[in-house]
Amino acid sequence: MTSERYQFFDQNPKLPNVVEEIKQGLRATPKRISPKYFYDAHGSALFEQITQLPEYYLTRTEISILDENKEKLSHIIDESCCLIEYGSGSSRKVRALINAINPQFYVPVDISREHLNQSARSIHDDFDTLHVYPTCADYTQGVQLPEIIDGAPRCGFFPGSSIGNFEREDALTFLTNISNDIGSGGYCIIGFDSRKPKTIVEPAYNDSLGVTASFNLNLLNHLNRTIGTDFKQSNFDHHAFYDEALGRIEMHLVSKVAQEVTLDGDTFNLSRDESIHTENSYKYSLTEVRELARRAGMSFVTHWEDSQAWFYVVLLRVPESRESTDP
Ligand code: AVI
Repeated sequence: MTSERYQFFDQNPKLPNVVEEIKQGLRATPKRISPKYFYDAHGSALFEQITQLPEYYLTRTEISILDENKEKLSHIIDESCCLIEYGSGSSRKVRALINAINPQFYVPVDISREHLNQSARSIHDDFDTLHVYPTCADYTQGVQLPEIIDGAPRCGFFPGSSIGNFEREDALTFLTNISNDIGSGGYCIIGFDSRKPKTIVEPAYNDSLGVTASFNLNLLNHLNRTIGTDFKQSNFDHHAFYDEALGRIEMHLVSKVAQEVTLDGDTFNLSRDESIHTENSYKYSLTEVRELARRAGMSFVTHWEDSQAWFYVVLLRVPESRESTDP
């Protein structure tokens, strides 16, 4: 059923030339493959399992912070607003926020067209008065928001510490884009994983059931199936460690043997113990968050954290542009 409350906007995001991108990464030193290739259907299901693991504190901590502070948020953020969620996926976390803020519009932005349509439909069906305008776009490349929301105050939402998967300078570019999207007076709610001792952060990426290892290794099967590489999964080990100085978890796939991998007529050699770098997950101190916000042209309004300060939900705002009184 179509409804005036539902419109799908497709920006037809350009898909990358995956074969060329993977070849480039395998030619580089050290070798690397982007974490975006974790997320085929099986990888997304594994990530869902990760979020339930006892060691992976991020998801449940963020959800409880949002839950405890949703009343306060609802007093700050206007009901007439448009809530824009970047990389909305299954739109699970946003439900509590929609309930609390009761916004006029919800614009979920995601690159995965089918999944976006399904989750946006379900939000539309569950919230009687909400206008839902899913927008298919690559949020890392900047988003053209639908004109239909023009005039409404805006609030961006980027939960899950997904900002941690950007390099620090790319996080700045991304935040600057959000700041332009939401405009003068707009708010933005972002989840940051805090810097903390290695003994807490490292197990979150080395769980005892080996789900994170399967998630990392699944990337190889995903590429074998979609672009025809011939990675042998059993020839690789999952390796994740925390670099305290850089404040980041690094995930790697380490070659257990000297081996060759072929792709589209090209051969790539891996020596024993050579690794393919698959992900960085940056952690932030509050000072770093404040500095990032300042450089992106936003002010730091407030933040909420759990009792151990393992996770921060941060509220930022683009300052109101002042009318010039100069003659
Ligand atoms: C999606 N992202 C925030 C997760 C993280 O913690 O960096 C991805 C992940 N990688 C391993 N476990 C979870």
